[in-house]
Amino acid sequence: MGLDESGGTGGDITAMADEQSGAVLTSVNGAMPARAPIVVVEKARAADAQDIHAVVTYFADRDEMLHRPLNEVYENLRDFYVARVDGEFAGCVALHLWWADLAEIKSLAVREDRQLKGIGYGLVSACLDEARRIGLAKVFALTYKPGFFEKLGFSVADVMEFPRKVWNECYRCPKFANCNEIAVGIDLMAKPAAPPAAP
Ligand SMILES: CC(C)(COP(=O)(O)OP(=O)(O)OC[C@H]1O[C@@H](n2cnc3c(N)ncnc32)[C@H](O)[C@@H]1OP(=O)(O)O)[C@@H](O)C(=O)NCCC(=O)NCCS
Repeated sequence: MGLDESGGTGGDITAMADEQSGAVLTSVNGAMPARAPIVVVEKARAADAQDIHAVVTYFADRDEMLHRPLNEVYENLRDFYVARVDGEFAGCVALHLWWADLAEIKSLAVREDRQLKGIGYGLVSACLDEARRIGLAKVFALTYKPGFFEKLGFSVADVMEFPRKVWNECYRCPKFANCNEIAVGIDLMAKPAAPPAAP
């Protein structure tokens, strides 16, 4: 999936650029051609594990998310998507299946110098597309940034709506007793609101 990196979620990130095309723009003074950066979101490869581990560790050390040991990144590598800007690692996310109807978005991180350009949106959108494709009804996340997820259509939820998560993982987390992450969820089966009835 190729994305035209220009920021915001409105039309920029959903307006897909052909990653083969490498859209070429002319600079303001015409002296040298400037090329729009090409942003790609794709499934992670084994060679991405170190970058994934590094970016998650960076934000986890700042208490913005939970740590993932490197062995856990490898064991769950097939859950991960990565974003690349002109081929360079820019961020990651994982979609982890819990049950027939439920998955979790985990380890979402965008490099600081690449933030606020629609990359987080692109990563979460890739997870939601996959969740729809495989027929899941609900996706949730535990986050310190509920506002970001609300912009993508998630709503704040009660974590006890996701007991498999709580009793499998949260229960073993050292922060369990004092957890201040907020649960957010999105219902993928929800029908769009009906249009107003004709007068
Ligand atoms: C949270 C994070 C993934 C967002 O990624 P990003 O690439 O900067 O986000 P985007 O540019 O795609 O933003 C999409 C929209 O969300 C908004 N947004 C971004 N971060 C936000 C936040 N912390 N709170 C509320 N809204 C936020 C953007 O302004 C944008 O809104 P717009 O469409 O109206 O312009 C990124 O800041 C990050 O990696 N943070 C550190 C790690 C972390 O907190 N991960 C989340 C743990 S679950």
